[in-house]
Amino acid sequence: MLARWYQEAVIYCLEVGSFQDSNGDGHGDLQGLIARLDYLSRLGVTCLWLNPIHPSPWRDNGYDVADYYGVDPRLGTLGDFAALTRAARERGIRIVLDLVVNHTSDEHPWFRSARSDPGSFYRDWYVWSAEEPSDRRQGTVFPGEQDETWTFDETAGAWYFHRFYRFQPDLNWSNHAVRAEIARIMGFWLELGASGFRIDAAPFVLEQTAPGVDPAPKDFTILEHWRQETQWQVGDSVLLCEANVPPSDVTVFVGSRPDGPTDRAQMLFDFLLNPKAWLALARQDAEPLVEALTTAVKLPAGGQWATFLRNHDELDLSRLTDEQRGDVFRAFAPRDEMRLYGRGIRRRLAPMLRGDRRRIELAYALQFSLPGTPVVRYGEEIGMGEDLSLPGREAIRTPMQWEDGPTAGFSSAAPAELVRPVLRRGAYGAKQVNVRTQQRDPNSLLRWFENLTHSVREAPEIGTGTCSVVDVPLPRPVLAHRFDGPTGAILLLHNLADAPVTVDIGRLPGMSAEASDILVDGPYDPPGRQLRGLALNGWGYRWIRLSRTA
Ligand code: NOJ
Repeated sequence: MLARWYQEAVIYCLEVGSFQDSNGDGHGDLQGLIARLDYLSRLGVTCLWLNPIHPSPWRDNGYDVADYYGVDPRLGTLGDFAALTRAARERGIRIVLDLVVNHTSDEHPWFRSARSDPGSFYRDWYVWSAEEPSDRRQGTVFPGEQDETWTFDETAGAWYFHRFYRFQPDLNWSNHAVRAEIARIMGFWLELGASGFRIDAAPFVLEQTAPGVDPAPKDFTILEHWRQETQWQVGDSVLLCEANVPPSDVTVFVGSRPDGPTDRAQMLFDFLLNPKAWLALARQDAEPLVEALTTAVKLPAGGQWATFLRNHDELDLSRLTDEQRGDVFRAFAPRDEMRLYGRGIRRRLAPMLRGDRRRIELAYALQFSLPGTPVVRYGEEIGMGEDLSLPGREAIRTPMQWEDGPTAGFSSAAPAELVRPVLRRGAYGAKQVNVRTQQRDPNSLLRWFENLTHSVREAPEIGTGTCSVVDVPLPRPVLAHRFDGPTGAILLLHNLADAPVTVDIGRLPGMSAEASDILVDGPYDPPGRQLRGLALNGWGYRWIRLSRTA
């Protein structure tokens, strides 16, 4: 089978508005991003996932779209977008866009028309109820910020459904005109050079919502249709689903038959592994990861997980038991203000790990060694922190810290004019944590991250091979897993605790005469032929090539 680019990619997620301002209006923009492509290229990133860029009232960070065919004027123009895809392509970087089509903004012209006239062509593009729905207060996503999923609209004289905030009315996916329009929108952005889409809130898009019907049935043919349309237009385009669902419900997002090839989205964020990784880090015990990897859902052929530790939302721990969640909270979010919605953490990774460089390296080495394609959020490569004085999820959406100074090199505007305040104070402020300083330091986290992304290139089996946990007796904090793929076999060792250990693995099947290190946290004796007495520092990691076949 030919290699698929998304299986060997390193994906970098960023908000254009918080990344780099080019025109001094205090808002990051596409031209600013273009100017930083060299930085991203050196970092070893091969795909950018852009959080929403469309015109929006910006009440949910752009996840409330007011025009799917445009670029928000604060971010630039359609011409800038075309320039971005061209400039990125020249550097071997692809662009994936957020496709937010579960709902629109209530300021979208479709909704304005729908609510103001029962005879409007767009009335049936949304989900209405003439009566107050019995389940009106059920199914909220943002407890504490949202108290209902059906809201009465005075203008319309009816109730409308909104899975998320009330200013985000859900589109009616039973309506074929909606389906046709969204397919057109996808085609439009592919034509401008996008390589695919992150499908926001995928399970909710597919839901055929009606008042009082819970759970609503899902129509997965929508994903098949998207796959056919997008791939017909651009053969190697991808769909990446955001679907935080239980293990039994996962495969249907990727394929119509579990034993067949992927014919729906090619990729899926790994919301199952993510909380288990955090639990393992909190308990300094590999067991939750061993359990997760040995019981992992097998995706249809060609389907791929997208792994992550942190994203732009809260770290969602709702899949853990109360006791497990309590352990993660105690370890990484000891104060109430660090938590959100009763289920999550609104912090960045570096402060969660108390800025301990060894633990940060261990965490990211571990993520990049897990089955799938790694996704990293902007600023993680330099160890940015959060600003807990900002509300909710905004705490982790502060401007990129390029250098020291009042705006951290993000913008030439006055600090008060910025889209969000730059983090200035404390150990994670721009003076302490910025790109410029780390570029000058060969031992910086940034330079280490570059090495990490390039090490993944030397370990393509992580993206393309079969993962298994190595079944030998090991100290509790040590995870040993391996990948076997068309290009060879690799062994990965991670120590989730502070105490150094020595492990005996022994000769493994598929091992060639001499094993060699690919990525290590420090100087170790070579692994040799028998993999005995292998040293691992506290928070240490070793990626070892067992064999190379092609
Ligand atoms: C998921 C996105 O990640 C989140 O940021 C957003 O608020 C909701 N979908 C609604 O679009």
